[in-house]
Amino acid sequence: MKLFEANITNSVIAFFKNSKELSIENVNSKIKSTCGINAFFEIQSELDELINTISNNKNIINEPDRAEYGDFQTNRNLSDDICNLLKNKNTEPEIIIEPTCGKGNFIISSLNTFENIKYIYGVEIYKPYVWETKFAILDYFLKNINSNLPEINIYHYNVFDFDFKKISNKHKNRKILVIGNPPWVTNSKLSSLGSDNLPLKSNFKNHNGIDAITGKGNFDIGEYISVKLISLFSKLNGKFAFLVKNSVAKNILLEQNKTKYQISNIRQFDIDAKKEFNVSVNACLLLCSLHKNPGETISEYDFYTNNLIREYGWVNGKFVANIDLYLKSKDLDGRFPFVWRQGVKHDASKIMELEIRNGYYLNNNKEKVEIENDLVFALLKSSDLKGNVIDKSRKYTIITQRKVGQETKYIKELYPKTFNYLFNNIEYFNKRKSSIYEGKPLFSIFGIGDYSFKPYKVAIAGMYKTTTFSLVKPINNKPVMLDDTCYFIGFETLIEAEITQILLNKEITQNFIQSIAFKDAKRMITKDLLMRINLNEIINETDFYELQLEIPNLNIVDWKSYKGKLTKQVFEEKQQLDLFGELNQKKKVASGSVPTPYY
Ligand SMILES: C[S@@+](CC[C@H](N)C(=O)[O-])C[C@H]1O[C@@H](n2cnc3c(N)ncnc32)[C@H](O)[C@@H]1O
Repeated sequence: MKLFEANITNSVIAFFKNSKELSIENVNSKIKSTCGINAFFEIQSELDELINTISNNKNIINEPDRAEYGDFQTNRNLSDDICNLLKNKNTEPEIIIEPTCGKGNFIISSLNTFENIKYIYGVEIYKPYVWETKFAILDYFLKNINSNLPEINIYHYNVFDFDFKKISNKHKNRKILVIGNPPWVTNSKLSSLGSDNLPLKSNFKNHNGIDAITGKGNFDIGEYISVKLISLFSKLNGKFAFLVKNSVAKNILLEQNKTKYQISNIRQFDIDAKKEFNVSVNACLLLCSLHKNPGETISEYDFYTNNLIREYGWVNGKFVANIDLYLKSKDLDGRFPFVWRQGVKHDASKIMELEIRNGYYLNNNKEKVEIENDLVFALLKSSDLKGNVIDKSRKYTIITQRKVGQETKYIKELYPKTFNYLFNNIEYFNKRKSSIYEGKPLFSIFGIGDYSFKPYKVAIAGMYKTTTFSLVKPINNKPVMLDDTCYFIGFETLIEAEITQILLNKEITQNFIQSIAFKDAKRMITKDLLMRINLNEIINETDFYELQLEIPNLNIVDWKSYKGKLTKQVFEEKQQLDLFGELNQKKKVASGSVPTPYY
């Protein structure tokens, strides 16, 4: 049966039926002596409504949409298993704090598992869950009459406004367990729902400007609550055990080299979120000891088998994904001598991406497109970067600029068919949401520069879990474009591209990448990661004959020249560009000039 929209068991209904004639004070005191909860009913009308509903056997079931509350209730098996895991690790808390307690499963599992609990505090914003928690606790004690009876407070409150300091001040010398599963929702999801279920200062990482636009300002509400509780309780003895997304655990550790929360023995037990919550996300139990010297690494285990997966975190000021692998390849942690570039971005794939069908271009709206060839280039996406050498493409794209912000009036004059096509589809450009396009010339694109027009490229997919690099050759005698999910470096000569590809695909390089790449990140490969590869060190570890096995036409002169270019450079931006002819190319194309067509 449901009461106050909360599930209620028959034993609890029977309990209230036997309390029908009593006043609110008497019922509250009877409840307190039965199960420890203070002020079960806050006002008389709540008690009246309950008695009335039980008498009439009314049943209210409408469940509202709870997306903004990141509502994924932990099942009892999982909360039991988590409490048992804690107990097996010698956790015997006196104070339990569940800051977003939902239906109360962690509270019930704690009562079931720990024997020395003196106080329990639960906070929950959704009133039916507050009732459900209270009913569940009462039910627990009706069935376990000899159980240790703590003092229990379940607050119907917003966690962002709740004063946890009072609790931490009151229990300074007690063993605390902060346990729970905070909401699984991000601030950007909340803003799309028009919800204000946010802390007052929602930009808690102080991101601003471009970071906010690119999404670095986006954060998980669960992360905010975790960090808030860790800082509030880290001066007390005890443990923190929260179910969170793996990205939250990683983010907390990422900040740990600056913030130095007094937490240590940080462990992450990966759960199967599909099985437990029916959501496809990587999630874990984040467990750490409070009031300790700040730890800077996390040991990651499988929750179900307890097998160690890896250890990750800070090593000598560097953040790494696998400490064991990293220690074997750390000499490769340095600075890449060229700038890794992201591919082209236009946010108008319906009309900017083309395929060739029966000799015609077809756009993503399946419309036939008749335009000049000059501004059309082959396009590769992350999913296309599978082979070792790529010289074919499924897709093409229109490149309207040679550099970001370049005037595009020339298109009307030189390529009238292309202009008409783009102009007839101007709505696709006008509805692009990103502010980067504001005030820019017509048909503007991003991620474009002289580097995009280099004939040979070594490229890697950002969105896939593979870490091997592909060699991209010109198609139809024109350089190939990559989309913005890919990263690449461009070369003037094939041999230099080939050498770079082989060096990057060497086992030592691959091990190093694996040691710093976070597999559960949405974009596993990032520019920051690629810029850490110390190519010079890889060169030092490589000899000519080893390379010649992979590139049979390599001669010693090419190898020496390649090495010379790298080792002699002081890596300033200007010189970096000059490597492999980028600066020479730059001189040829005066800024703002008409693009040089490729034939
Ligand atoms: C992921 S569920 C987990 C519930 C419970 N901790 C458990 O483990 O089953 C998150 C809970 O947070 C509650 N919640 C969301 N926003 C809240 C807020 N601002 N204050 C308090 N509770 C909130 C939701 O109603 C929901 O019950």
